[in-house]
Amino acid sequence: MKDGFGRTIEYLRVSVTDRCNLRCVYCMPAEGLKPMRHSDILRYEEIARLVRIFASLGVKKLRLTGGEPLVRRNLDTLVSMLKRIDGIERVALTTNGLLLSEQLPALIRAGLDAVNISLDTTDPAAFRAITRGEGPERVMEAIEACARVPNLAVKLNCVPTTQNAEGLCDLVSYANGLGVPLRFIELMPIGPGRTMKGLPEAEVLERLTACFGAWTPDRDTEGEKCRVFRCGDRTIGFISPMTHRFCSRCDRIRLTSDGKLKTCLEYPPQLDLRAMLSEPDEAIRAAMIQTILNKPAAHRFSERAADTDPRRMAQIGG
Ligand code: 5AD
Ligand code: SF4
Repeated sequence: MKDGFGRTIEYLRVSVTDRCNLRCVYCMPAEGLKPMRHSDILRYEEIARLVRIFASLGVKKLRLTGGEPLVRRNLDTLVSMLKRIDGIERVALTTNGLLLSEQLPALIRAGLDAVNISLDTTDPAAFRAITRGEGPERVMEAIEACARVPNLAVKLNCVPTTQNAEGLCDLVSYANGLGVPLRFIELMPIGPGRTMKGLPEAEVLERLTACFGAWTPDRDTEGEKCRVFRCGDRTIGFISPMTHRFCSRCDRIRLTSDGKLKTCLEYPPQLDLRAMLSEPDEAIRAAMIQTILNKPAAHRFSERAADTDPRRMAQIGG
């Protein structure tokens, strides 16, 4: 369906848990966040029912997020339930990769189409400082395993900050060497990310130019969410919600793990779907339509709005 500004909404991000096995500095405090109660988290059957209703409104693409989605038991079961829903063309996963190697075969059997893996740096000391966890060897193993799976789309996501600035060129060489697309995502002022300094796109480009030479923007991706740059046979992408806002083309909505519908990352949840589960599909569908029609025009991250969602990234789903 189209929202109130004529944007076609066909992409739903489904957060399956707020829990995570890492504590990235821009996402969580060192001691972690108070986890939601298990009883507040949607069961797989409830997620599948809501997705079925979303699909009837035109949602075609799904992405499972967290927290860390792979800490939720039997995620492959959810993937196969979602893949069977009429109208759902693609099910993707965003993960920190720590638990991916062991779960990959089951996820592939379930029909998973794509994986985005977060990797801010290949440098072990910087990785531990940023994630407050072990790695990055286990994550890199998983990335390499994914790259060997035929027909699985794999991408890497990096949030550039002062903490991984020194390793950005190595990361580009690593990703390009594997033939896996790498995208730099600008830090957004969410949770602890509010008080940290992310590197803006221009500064990342400057650093990569010092290593590799000049990068040329790909004309075809101008104005897109992910803008591609090339340098010889190297390619990188930038997702820059702060310096190159792409809200006017936004096609996405979010379902939080406790069943709230969010139509913009920056705004608080607009509809409590979990509270509606006892109602018939038609009533839920009507409420979804009303909420999607009211999707805000754009985020106001640069304006410090008073009603910005106080939730952290792990509670929203990225
Ligand atoms: N700004 C941008 N990206 C963030 N992520 C977590 N917090 C933020 C933030 N404040 C990223 C993670 C991961 C993805 C799920 O979201 O690095 O790649
Ligand atoms: Fe976990 Fe992702 Fe948050 Fe890092 S950014 S703590 S991996 S949810």
